[in-house]
Amino acid sequence: MLRVGIVGVGTMGRTHASAYTKLPNVQLVGFTDAIADAAQRVASQFGVQAFDSYETLLEQVDMVDICTPTPTHLELVLRAASAGKHILCEKPLGRTLPQCEQMIEAANKAGVTLMPAQVLRFFPEFKQARDLVLAGAVGTPAAIRTRRGGPYPRAANDWYADFEQSGGPILDMVIHDFDWLRWTFGEVERVFAKALTFKGLDHIDYALITLRLKSGAIAHVEANWADPGGFKVDFEIAGDAGMIAFDSRLATPLTVAKQDAGGGGGGVAVPESPLAEDPYMLEIKHFVDSVQAGQPPSITAEDGMKAVEIALAAIESVRTGKVIRLGGGA
Ligand SMILES: NC(=O)c1ccc[n+]([C@@H]2O[C@H](COP(=O)([O-])OP(=O)(O)OC[C@H]3O[C@@H](n4cnc5c(N)ncnc54)[C@H](O)[C@@H]3O)[C@@H](O)[C@H]2O)c1
Repeated sequence: MLRVGIVGVGTMGRTHASAYTKLPNVQLVGFTDAIADAAQRVASQFGVQAFDSYETLLEQVDMVDICTPTPTHLELVLRAASAGKHILCEKPLGRTLPQCEQMIEAANKAGVTLMPAQVLRFFPEFKQARDLVLAGAVGTPAAIRTRRGGPYPRAANDWYADFEQSGGPILDMVIHDFDWLRWTFGEVERVFAKALTFKGLDHIDYALITLRLKSGAIAHVEANWADPGGFKVDFEIAGDAGMIAFDSRLATPLTVAKQDAGGGGGGVAVPESPLAEDPYMLEIKHFVDSVQAGQPPSITAEDGMKAVEIALAAIESVRTGKVIRLGGGA
């Protein structure tokens, strides 16, 4: 039985907590939070303990789940690693690349598992689209479009509205898409982006990022914190043999339209419902199972850092108006 403690009782802390309570091989021991009353309230709801300090929580657990605002991840990861605890850390892994490097180094040195919570890999529609791409359903991928967004996020201290903390929708939100794109289509070579982030608008933001992949494919990623009408996600993957599309607004499963299906009406519905499994549960189950089996999880801390690298390059492009080449070079 793996004993887990959660740091941060906001949206993600509570979401993760529900998942732990459904798994047989893990025991949710308790919570800690910078706001002690909040930790107490949530701990009572889950029937577990509230710890008044991170140290006392660390003493009672085998792993921690870090669900606090992004700039706090570094210190919490370093302290967990030095206490020899395994770590699931919410995305983005760090606010900066040096922070990510420090976390990776500390986890490696301590011999503990550090997995960034890039949960999109566990969303059935994204996982299934990747499987189809790897199985050749679209042929050679050429053009990929993703769109994600909804209302401007609200949280404790309004920290999402503080760019220095959240990194805006590019670092905070479409980091999901950056990770999924890398995982599915390979490394990113060049990044160009436009955004409203630095225009001084009040609780409204939008970004459009173009990625040139090493494979030669082009991806464009839209991030929208300007839609009060609810959270929406869609994507299209076009290649020389067909296209895969998903739209969360349509109550239909993934469709695959093949170029060689004889013209119109070639859509093939893939039967699994995209809503069948809770991706947060699948993500946490994967982490817990990996730790218990002594196996590295499928998402590495380096993957988390690479996604941060793409996001920070996009932000640099917004600031400078230039194309940013990853890994240095012109
Ligand atoms: N994977 C996803 O789908 C997803 C969705 C939302 C947020 N997130 C990420 O999860 C993290 C948390 O986001 P949220 O929306 O839950 O935030 P939130 O503001 O709702 O909750 C954060 C909690 O952390 C506490 N806290 C702040 N600093 C702390 C510290 N140093 N020690 C202990 N507690 C501290 C706050 O009091 C608050 O209760 C962020 O990194 C965010 O980017 C991921």
